[in-house]
Amino acid sequence: MANSKYEYVKSYEFEDEIMQPNLIVVRLDGRNFERFSEIHEFEKPNDVRALNLMNSCATAVVEEYPDIVFSYGFDDEYSFVFKKTSNFYQRRASKMLTLIVSFFSSVYATKWKEFFPQKELEYPPSFHARVISCATLEVLQVYLAWRQNACHSDNLCRTCFWMLIRSGKTIEEAKEALKDCQKEEKNELLFQRFGINYKKLPEMFRQGSCIFKTEVEVVVKYDEHGNPIKRLRRKPNIVHTQNIVAKKFWNEQLVLVKELGGFEDEIAKIKTEYVKSFLFENKLLPSTYIVIRIDGCHFHRFSDIHGFEKPNDAQALNLMNTCAVAVLKEFHDIVFAYGVSDEYSFVLRKNSQFNQRQASVYKTDNIFSSQIVSAIVSFFSTMYAMKWKEFFPQKNLKYPPSFDGRAVCYPSEEILQDYLAWRQVDCHINNQYNTCFWMLVKSGKTKAEAQQCLKGTQTQEKYELLSRQFGTDYSSLPVMFRQGSFVYRMKLQEVVVDHSNIIERSFWKEYSSILEEMPAHTSAANECTQTSVSAS
Ligand code: GTP
Ligand code: MG
Repeated sequence: MANSKYEYVKSYEFEDEIMQPNLIVVRLDGRNFERFSEIHEFEKPNDVRALNLMNSCATAVVEEYPDIVFSYGFDDEYSFVFKKTSNFYQRRASKMLTLIVSFFSSVYATKWKEFFPQKELEYPPSFHARVISCATLEVLQVYLAWRQNACHSDNLCRTCFWMLIRSGKTIEEAKEALKDCQKEEKNELLFQRFGINYKKLPEMFRQGSCIFKTEVEVVVKYDEHGNPIKRLRRKPNIVHTQNIVAKKFWNEQLVLVKELGGFEDEIAKIKTEYVKSFLFENKLLPSTYIVIRIDGCHFHRFSDIHGFEKPNDAQALNLMNTCAVAVLKEFHDIVFAYGVSDEYSFVLRKNSQFNQRQASVYKTDNIFSSQIVSAIVSFFSTMYAMKWKEFFPQKNLKYPPSFDGRAVCYPSEEILQDYLAWRQVDCHINNQYNTCFWMLVKSGKTKAEAQQCLKGTQTQEKYELLSRQFGTDYSSLPVMFRQGSFVYRMKLQEVVVDHSNIIERSFWKEYSSILEEMPAHTSAANECTQTSVSAS
């Protein structure tokens, strides 16, 4: 990133490292998946294809991130456990959770057709994620037992509910019939009324799925005599078992014992104090402007592999802009976004009316950092994968793209504007450098020579170099390359992309309505409407 007088805004960013020896879990779960599963007509109470798709995405995550040594999932959720010595992204919570949820989301979108060949993805599925830190292995054991218990009880309840509905009961009647019903009674109901032995239902439905690696010998090459040379490699397996935290099961898995440790006792009871810690989430400061900045992960490689034009690929930037427009349409609290290269900053309205506001990213009066960041990163990632073909009809997406994200709170309009100015100055400096660099390379210089040529040059010198050597007037290059793009909602709620100098304060005078406080009474219009019912 380039230096400018706006650099000071970086001091508002905070680090959220999870210290050793805490064990780290990233759990993600489907956002509004009840609606998603209804629209995509998932079978009830369980859809094997949807569960297999979740398992396939989780396997891809485990293969992509070798530090993940155990995963457990059911329904629309998955938990990923990192090895105890992991130093993945310096153990920074927001990086870890956003990268995992982003990768999972774009894999979900890219693999959809494999599992649902007859169905189109109607809209981008997205996931929330959070990080759970477990102080000891025993806490992790309780966490996993808690999730598998949830799987057991949710599934039993869902199975009863949908059997009752199929037998002609209304939703209200089915809910009433199951109210205060204990586990034994539900088993009895299934058996007596519907002839279903719950224990005979597929293991994946009742027990969830876990993924962990086992070490297997694989042939890596052959020596000069044709003899195979074997090495130990870790391969992920999907396993179903009644109790994932039973000593008998866990302590037999060599990789788990090596990377996390062996369990000493069986779980007798799920401690409520531990569950409280699993549910804890960090809140963001109220009455501040919240910015969610997302950035493509290793896009240097991604753009090379996909043959993006250098230094700017208009289609790649248009794809980023289209995803940003979709984000503003989905999350009504976002009032402005600014994007350049592989990054986008989304600005949430200053939240002075917490209790009046129930718009889509806020579930309660509080704004939880991980919920907002993960939802936006996840939605952006699926959108990117889904829209790829529209922008690159001739190119296949070679691998699922991922983005990381962070939330930062800025206390005043002035500092927020300085933040956005910082990003645009960065865009200008990088773009001017890259334009000169690639013109020099295209003219026959090596990359090292081009670098040497530009070392220590100022803006004016670069203008002159372009004009003198290449007859190019920098200011006549496309404005999207030079100034990046901004996205906002016009008066009639239409979301548009534009390009302008947002560093000048005159921009904010002209667009003064963007950062205006929302009157309390209009907030209801932003509510996320949910029509479906919950079975559990
Ligand atoms: P991390 O963000 O740290 O994971 O690394 P990164 O490789 O994504 O680099 P960074 O975010 O710092 O910079 C974005 C990179 O994306 C640029 O350096 C380019 O290599 C690439 N990129 C983004 N947009 C374009 C484009 O339009 N054309 C080309 N050729 N490359 C682009
Ligand atoms: Mg990047």
